[in-house]
Amino acid sequence: MTEHDSGTVRLALVGCGGISGAHVNGYKDLYVHGCREFVVTACCDVREENALKRSKEIAEIQGIAPAVFTSQAAMEKAGVADAADICLPHCFHHSSAISLLDAGLHVMVEKPIGITVKASRAIIAAAERNRRTLATAENIRRYVTARSCAWAINQRGLIGDMRLVNIQSISFSPFDYDNPAMKWRGIKLLTGGGMIMDSGAHFADMVEVLFGDVDEVSCTMSAYDNRLIKDAPILGDQQADVEDTWHAVIRFKSGLHVLWTHSRSLYGQGMSTASYYGSKGTMNALGFAFHPFQNGGTAVLDDGTAVTNEQIQSEYLASLTEPQQATLFPYGSTDGFAIEVWDFIDALRNNRKPEMDGVDGLRAKTLCECCYESAVAGRTVKFDEVFDGRLSEYQRPIDEYWHI
Ligand SMILES: NC(=O)c1ccc[n+]([C@@H]2O[C@H](COP(=O)([O-])OP(=O)(O)OC[C@H]3O[C@@H](n4cnc5c(N)ncnc54)[C@H](O)[C@@H]3O)[C@@H](O)[C@H]2O)c1
Repeated sequence: MTEHDSGTVRLALVGCGGISGAHVNGYKDLYVHGCREFVVTACCDVREENALKRSKEIAEIQGIAPAVFTSQAAMEKAGVADAADICLPHCFHHSSAISLLDAGLHVMVEKPIGITVKASRAIIAAAERNRRTLATAENIRRYVTARSCAWAINQRGLIGDMRLVNIQSISFSPFDYDNPAMKWRGIKLLTGGGMIMDSGAHFADMVEVLFGDVDEVSCTMSAYDNRLIKDAPILGDQQADVEDTWHAVIRFKSGLHVLWTHSRSLYGQGMSTASYYGSKGTMNALGFAFHPFQNGGTAVLDDGTAVTNEQIQSEYLASLTEPQQATLFPYGSTDGFAIEVWDFIDALRNNRKPEMDGVDGLRAKTLCECCYESAVAGRTVKFDEVFDGRLSEYQRPIDEYWHI
């Protein structure tokens, strides 16, 4: 199959752990809504039981069981797929994606695209050299709730000109390092960083969707949780070394300041707030502060009027043309994972840019890396110096370890 074929795309799921379950639900949502633009032909995971589980789930959706592989190289050799949906730990994103792209497959990579800026650039270069579609899997921006609130702020002008954003979440909620999905998340060499770049990848993408280009970032961070992680992948027993507490000030080119404070290691009374202040009112994001507007938002205007989540959403949906609806909510789906999968499939079938390509993924990733680089350098850093790789002190040990 080539990118100009109108046939069904054969999709491989690479990495069949936690989040791949949400991707499978996305496949199901599309299938139930009538989409037949792709068929899942392979499930690949070094843990065979994980691949088998997803293969069985997918067989129930599409009536055909994807082949199970425990080696990506064997899957590539079998030639059973045109495209891959990568759901691996961050340290494997670049090696997996580059190998798949070099084997001629189109690739969608879970956020954050690569483990470092350099790794992300290597993935982008592989897509360009092989002339293959590269997408970043980012679900938050695609929910009808998030799209509605972004529209309310940017197109509708509901709260006027943006003046300040204050996002804070503080709690004592230690990771469960006995859970295999959390072991690699505590070790910088495997994850690239803590939640600044894990859940923070969603945050970074959404604030860029909402407020445009970042100018500079100032950040302090601490790692209070240094427990021993037993039997981590690749490295064995290791002390946790990723940040669990930070305070960042992000200045956008528009002049807007976003304050972003988080800890999962502070005792006592927790708190969470996500407030967006404009010249004509304030919006509050509902749900997890890190995933801006995933659960929608409410507004209070300068004359005291309260605007509900439902009002914002129905006004937004009424503003869309039919072609816009068909692209933003394909087949009527409002599931962020379903929409990202469809967007990737449709982009490669029609040889168009996906909504979030590799460079868009790199821009979100760079904002996260700006926080790390600022904390290590002890100064405010410019977005551009991190984006183009001039500043990479924090990332250097990771690049060296993985020979990136
Ligand atoms: N969009 C979201 O809301 C969201 C939420 C959680 C995780 N994620 C992202 O999804 C990705 C995966 O996270 P997860 O929580 O599913 O991790 P996980 O640890 O639960 O799953 C990773 C899977 O990859 C497998 N694996 C490891 N090395 C492999 C290799 N070389 N070849 C094939 N399989 C291999 C593991 O056996 C495991 O099944 C990460 O990029 C993470 O940031 C996104």
